[in-house]
Amino acid sequence: MKYLVVTSRGPFSHEKKGKNETIENNVGGVATALKMLLSKNGGTWVCWGSGSLDINYKSENFSNYVIKRIILNSTEKKKFYDEYSNGTLWPVFHYFRDRTTFYKDAFRYYLEVNRKFAREVIENIDDDTVIWIHDYQLAMLPGILRESNVKNKIIFTWHIPWVSPEFFSIIPESREIIKSISSSNYITFHIDNYRENFINSQRFLLGSSTPSRVYSIPLGIDTKFFSPKNAKKINNIKAKIIFSIDRLDYTKGLTLRVLAIEDLLTEHPELLKKFVYIMNVTPSRTTVSEYINMKKELEMSVGRVNGRFGTIDWRPIIYMYRKIRDKTLLSYYKSADVALITPLIDGLNLVSKEFVATTENGVLIISRFAGASKELSSAITVNPYNIKETANAILKALSMDVNERNNMISKLKNTVVKRDIKWWYRRITALPR
Ligand code: G6P
Repeated sequence: MKYLVVTSRGPFSHEKKGKNETIENNVGGVATALKMLLSKNGGTWVCWGSGSLDINYKSENFSNYVIKRIILNSTEKKKFYDEYSNGTLWPVFHYFRDRTTFYKDAFRYYLEVNRKFAREVIENIDDDTVIWIHDYQLAMLPGILRESNVKNKIIFTWHIPWVSPEFFSIIPESREIIKSISSSNYITFHIDNYRENFINSQRFLLGSSTPSRVYSIPLGIDTKFFSPKNAKKINNIKAKIIFSIDRLDYTKGLTLRVLAIEDLLTEHPELLKKFVYIMNVTPSRTTVSEYINMKKELEMSVGRVNGRFGTIDWRPIIYMYRKIRDKTLLSYYKSADVALITPLIDGLNLVSKEFVATTENGVLIISRFAGASKELSSAITVNPYNIKETANAILKALSMDVNERNNMISKLKNTVVKRDIKWWYRRITALPR
């Protein structure tokens, strides 16, 4: 079977760094899965050429597959990516009404960019190619393909939450969007709740639904890569390590997490100098206004808490705002005593699974609003809006004995290993025609 996969963000991009040219990898779980699938079966990957030099690599051949890049001009980028995808759809699909803006003309460009993707898809398919489309940036693509008479099997995988019908329908174009997605043969989500919200939205807006074509199949990780065997421990930190890594995004609950650390130290001064919280934040969507403002807010609270409790030789939060290399990430996962993953809402959250696979017996604290918490129910789960509850969870995690830790992690590892990345794409690609 030949596949053509379509994503907004590609597996990597070509960038200009000073006088040199570099390749920036997209280390996300989806990219890894699709790379595996295409390398094995052959096919095409259609994506946005978001890198500054991608224009020179519109078509790039690899041993078994080819990448086809869509080039957007600056207005298209602003309207499609900054405004409609990330200024309207992203906040609505995470229940952030107050951060949502309905921009003039943005949908028109979004549709136009989805049409550009459609033209590239059509040029690269045979009659039996399976088209696999990903995420909210490409919601109009299945409908456009059907209007252009494409009869191929289309799978649509939605990676972020799907909200209640009433909330979804605040988007002026909600009917067009759900009609388009519904024209796919299969639609997959990561958890049941999002699947149900989608089916209810179909009923609410279209008058009927297609439950037998809508699945919940959670994404997994590459457990060969995320393994204690591949990771080196950090040796020069004596205190216990609490760790997190997130894109800088208001959905991740970063400031509330800092407040939980503050609460913990206020209530338990005996913990001063006993731990460090390594908070890694990856720059993301830096041209979208909501993201620019929240960086300031986060950095002020980190500074305030470090200023309040820090001493000449210790500060509670080691804050890093940069992209880190895979090797460094593995080493943090292995060295952390506690992973603190507390998004306010998250489609799935692969970081929690990566930590579980890489740690030997670290403790996972996960928000009950992260999709992955459904599978990882033996972890410590918290309501991230409840600062006290999060602080108490950290206290508990720091004081668990080795037996309790081993017990918890072995259950979690079982799930993560059983439902790994291959399990995910095999289940989806095995859906009958
Ligand atoms: C989330 C979305 C993806 C997106 C990624 C990175 O995981 O589900 O579709 O690609 O964030 O965001 P970016 O805006 O950099 O593509």
